[in-house]
Amino acid sequence: MRSDLLKWFVLLANLAQAVRAALPPTKDPASYVDTLIGTLNGGNVFAGPSAPFGSIKPGLDSDAPNNQAGFVPDGHSPIFGISALHDDGTGGRASLGMSSLLPQYCQLDINEATSGCKWTRHARRADIKHSSVKSTPGEFHFSLQSGVDVSMAASDHAAVYNIDFSDAIERGSWRSSRSATEEPSKRANNLEPVLVFDYMTDLQNSGRSPNNSLTTSSFVLPATSDSPATEVTRIETSATFSPSFGVGQFTVYTCLDVPLVRAMGTYEMDKSSPDAKDLTDVYGEAGVILTIDQDRLSSADFAGTLPVRIGISWTSTRAACNYASAEIPTFPSTKSLSTVALATRSKWNALLSDTLTISHDGLTPDDLTLFYSSLYRTFLSPNNVTGDNPRFSTTEPSYDSLYCIWDSARTVHPLWTLLAPGVQAEVVRSVVEIYRKEGWLPDCRMSTLQGFTQGGSNAEMLLSDSFVKGILRGDRGFWEDALEGMLKDAQIEPPSWGLVGRGGIEARRALGYVPRGEWGSPEKPGATPGRTASRTIEYAYNDFSIALVSAGLSHPTLYTSYRVLSNDTFNLWNTSIASDNFTGFLQARNEDGSWAYQDPRRCSPALEPFGCFLDRGEGHDFYEASSWQYSFFAPHDMAQVVELMGGSKRFVERYKHMWSMGYADIGDEPGFLAAYSANFAVGGYRHTVDLVVKLMREKFSTSKAGLPGNDDVGAMGSFIVWTHLGMFPVAGTGVYLLSTPLISAYEVRNAITGKVFRLKTRGWDGARRNKYIREAWLDGEKYTRNWLCHSVFERGGVLELVLGENPGEMGSREEDLPPSLSTGGFGYDSAVLGC
Ligand SMILES: *[C@@H]1O[C@H](CO)[C@@H](O)[C@H](O)[C@H]1NC(C)=O
Ligand SMILES: *[C@@H]1O[C@H](CO)[C@@H](O)[C@H](O)[C@H]1NC(C)=O
Ligand SMILES: *[C@@H]1O[C@H](CO)[C@@H](O)[C@H](O)[C@H]1NC(C)=O
Ligand SMILES: *[C@@H]1O[C@H](CO)[C@@H](O)[C@H](O)[C@H]1NC(C)=O
Ligand SMILES: *[C@@H]1O[C@H](CO)[C@@H](O)[C@H](O)[C@H]1NC(C)=O
Repeated sequence: MRSDLLKWFVLLANLAQAVRAALPPTKDPASYVDTLIGTLNGGNVFAGPSAPFGSIKPGLDSDAPNNQAGFVPDGHSPIFGISALHDDGTGGRASLGMSSLLPQYCQLDINEATSGCKWTRHARRADIKHSSVKSTPGEFHFSLQSGVDVSMAASDHAAVYNIDFSDAIERGSWRSSRSATEEPSKRANNLEPVLVFDYMTDLQNSGRSPNNSLTTSSFVLPATSDSPATEVTRIETSATFSPSFGVGQFTVYTCLDVPLVRAMGTYEMDKSSPDAKDLTDVYGEAGVILTIDQDRLSSADFAGTLPVRIGISWTSTRAACNYASAEIPTFPSTKSLSTVALATRSKWNALLSDTLTISHDGLTPDDLTLFYSSLYRTFLSPNNVTGDNPRFSTTEPSYDSLYCIWDSARTVHPLWTLLAPGVQAEVVRSVVEIYRKEGWLPDCRMSTLQGFTQGGSNAEMLLSDSFVKGILRGDRGFWEDALEGMLKDAQIEPPSWGLVGRGGIEARRALGYVPRGEWGSPEKPGATPGRTASRTIEYAYNDFSIALVSAGLSHPTLYTSYRVLSNDTFNLWNTSIASDNFTGFLQARNEDGSWAYQDPRRCSPALEPFGCFLDRGEGHDFYEASSWQYSFFAPHDMAQVVELMGGSKRFVERYKHMWSMGYADIGDEPGFLAAYSANFAVGGYRHTVDLVVKLMREKFSTSKAGLPGNDDVGAMGSFIVWTHLGMFPVAGTGVYLLSTPLISAYEVRNAITGKVFRLKTRGWDGARRNKYIREAWLDGEKYTRNWLCHSVFERGGVLELVLGENPGEMGSREEDLPPSLSTGGFGYDSAVLGC
């Protein structure tokens, strides 16, 4: 009776909603973004200015451990300079960091040892005023201890730096005028504004090959209302480097424009060559030293601030210069910085509010900062390098810093699909184009090159996720090509399966799993041994993605074969392995069918934190997570896992035990789904809520150390966003697992269909007391499933939640659980959305 009344209430409320205005969009969401979150403690977040998916990412490079993304705001480390390219959130070695500029106020001599100016990487390190750092989407400010202040702003491929020497000049004049009676402009101290530009080193010092060049030219920019006619010195460079987590070499092209140059010279190691203007094929550290005309700099036109413009390209210096001129046309006006910053900020504001509108009710400023900063980082990378692809010529979009799709396919790209499907369509087109041109779908990809494959061939997960959610729906030709690439991963063993595709295909075909030893894990060049258990588990799930796409494209035979193959995970289920009184775990096997025991707790934070990365091949059957945690990974058939673990009750006990003992890791991407996986069991929903709410409070914050692991191109950020929305994508399928929203109401507009999904709550208190969904209605119908299908976003709808201290009926019956193959889910006919 009561629920009937509520149903009417909801229907009436929906009618009212139809005429009432929607939620007011957040004004200037960029103002809530703190770009420094996650820059310490292994988050490795990139903090500099960037456009959404911007190709250029200028930022400081700290001389500090964990400078993978350049700047480490630890309060004391000096910097090498401001370089133009960075990656966000990656682990492993420090990435990129090319084309580094450092302003100094100094006295120049030919030999670094006798010079007040310093140019080699080690000698030039400069202290910054750490408290001076101010950062916002698209714009970044800091001061050097020398008194030089720097502001930076970035567009898509170009950036402008305003370098304010006025304080440094004043200090220098004051010092000299105390000892001399001359006017300050006579500069008895001979200090001058100097820029050192290093084109040969990067963060990992990989720029050592001979293919490089530096040339200089100059041109005059005519007077405008903001600036006088100005001679600009143009430095064009190219240099070759190695990727931080991959193979091969890539070239970075830079175009640097500097006005007011009084004198210039080049340097190689610690010797400078005054008046030299070119360098070719040098070895070691090299670059250019530019002395700025102090009198003209101090004139009313510039008032001590030197504007510098930089363009970056992966294909040519000409392209780099064209980007600079086209994207920052008002240079050398010092006002171009605010123009660029404003334009980039409005791109961010559009992206952060176009399709998602949230209610601010009950949220603190800190909550909003956490949410919008996380959403911001989700869209920092991959980078749009369309039209600037050095590997092949194409009219298709190109995206780089895809990073390991192993990390990003789980939560980053599902969020792009939901909130920015147009951009996600460009990403999947670029991924499939890499297959068409190079013969293999990418797994890890950075600096335009192949990186090391981590676990499975997870382009399959990325592609099926977009496919079932309607990206490029109707473009059958495109998806047939995508399927062809996925099938190649599954069927053909590549020469180097450490870079693309899969390894041990023949062995798995014969045995139903990838075995330990030579057959499944050969010690051959280009392969990476080990991980045979986790690779089997991931390949099986990748096969399920092939099955879903096959079904959507009406290939019944393929669907059936790959559906069968996706069950291979369970060939590794050993019912007699016990750990802490729980029995049955996924384990590796040998070629002869015998089992290779690995303590199920290995590779977990509890037993062996940070122990199971790529460089630790032999003896490690699981990659970056324990057997405890991998034993929860069969997203296509969790019903089978629940059964193998002894039913829902025991499954939930095991889930709770795993998390309480530290056998699972929220600081690494596979831990995300593991945290939500209690929803696969009857009665598990409340335990998912208990855990994810606790994790969000304890492991994630707005501090610089606020992430529990590498952000990995925004993966941690996207996990935070999903958890606030109260749902989590089962990547590769159309399923979202429900938890409790940490936002009281929100709306998602589907940019493909134009339809709006509205989530509303009653009793919302940010999961302080009213932690659970007590009752739910979807479009006025009582809803007890603990999951949503993506169709609600496609066709629009209203989900009304009543929150309370008890979970009510949510997910309390078998039929309310997410689909699984073994219980009739993901059938051929229902498979277009996977739900
Ligand atoms: C370096 O330059 C040589 C000659 O131009 C060329 O053959 C070679 O491919 C280049 N190497 C790289 C890594 O760019
Ligand atoms: C990516 O870059 C290309 C070329 O600059 C541009 O046409 C396209 O709109 C960009 N994509 C997005 C999503 O901004
Ligand atoms: C999946 O594999 C398990 C273990 O090998 C087996 O018991 C089960 O019957 C298989 N399921 C299907 C549908 O083949
Ligand atoms: C296993 O179960 C026994 C008996 O119930 C209990 O004494 C022991 O503490 C349990 N071990 C662990 C690690 O939970
Ligand atoms: C599980 O693995 C162990 C070796 O680790 C083996 O002795 C045992 O027979 C296996 N159990 C099953 C049920 O296959």
